[in-house]
Amino acid sequence: MDGARLIDRLALDSDAERRDVVEGLRGRPARIAPKYFYDEVGCALYGAICRLPEYYPTRTEAAIFERHRREIAEAAGRGRQFVDLGAGDCAKARQWLASLRPSRYVAVDIAIHEIASALGGLAPDFPDLPMAGVATDFSRVLDLDGALDDTPALFFYPGSSIGNFTPEEATAFLGRVRGYCARRPGSALLIGVDGRKEKAVLEAAYDDAAGVTAAFNRNMLRHLNVRFGFDFAPAAFGHVGRYDEALGRVEMHLESLREQVVHLDGEPRRFPAGERIHTESSYKYSPEGFEALLAAAGFGAVRRWESAQQPYFVFLAS
Ligand SMILES: C[S@@+](CC[C@H](N)C(=O)[O-])C[C@H]1O[C@@H](n2cnc3c(N)ncnc32)[C@H](O)[C@@H]1O
Repeated sequence: MDGARLIDRLALDSDAERRDVVEGLRGRPARIAPKYFYDEVGCALYGAICRLPEYYPTRTEAAIFERHRREIAEAAGRGRQFVDLGAGDCAKARQWLASLRPSRYVAVDIAIHEIASALGGLAPDFPDLPMAGVATDFSRVLDLDGALDDTPALFFYPGSSIGNFTPEEATAFLGRVRGYCARRPGSALLIGVDGRKEKAVLEAAYDDAAGVTAAFNRNMLRHLNVRFGFDFAPAAFGHVGRYDEALGRVEMHLESLREQVVHLDGEPRRFPAGERIHTESSYKYSPEGFEALLAAAGFGAVRRWESAQQPYFVFLAS
């Protein structure tokens, strides 16, 4: 990763992490946090999901950015520190570097291998741009100390990843981003948010015909086996992606296809046929609903761009 500094804040308390995962899997309903999707295979599968015909969010957001790039860049301000939350392969940020001309680029992600390799690819193309990677789990704490200076920052959170938090968690998380902005006057947040839409469109996006999302979901079990020494049989779980209209969220689950026993730290956990493990929620918002959430997080001024094709919104909040 020539030319970029990598700050590793991941391995803070691996025992507590293991306890959390085991407790979640023993619970009824069982759950696994979506952050466990993103090992190397999971990151590659996410990239494949973004290219699926059913997965409208990536191309819808890209079209909004493409169409309004100059206007958004002017509103956001040039020369800021550009902080990419959940940067992944850094592909979306790359598209912004020429128009935003940031003073530095900071890629933040739990997938340390992914940002290390992405920054390695980006640095030679932007030799004058200081870059850093912060490997951290921001669902626990957003700790960017040491990675930012006191000048204004533009926080970038695309892909509607905010939907993986509950609205309460999202408010708290954005409140922390707002805290960083408040300490650096002139800072802002640029965020992509998926809107509520027809059930069929949403369910196709999270349960595609080629089975890529199913593979992404099941890969989480393989990742947990490698990471924690469990003995899940991933093929013995089916993929479920359903929209709950009342809650305004798509839920992904893994459903036990037969009676089976999995050993979690040596202790058996029985999964009867039909029992589900909740792996992800993706909350969908109305524009007014998300603006209220931004206000609750402390943001005062909000601008919005949207797609004519699908309810999908880009907000610039300061
Ligand atoms: C849905 S992908 C979005 C990637 C990219 N920003 C985009 O919009 O296409 C979510 C990204 O956030 C990262 N991520 C997920 N949970 C995280 C967490 N708790 N802390 C830090 N990064 C996380 C994943 O590793 C992944 O790169």
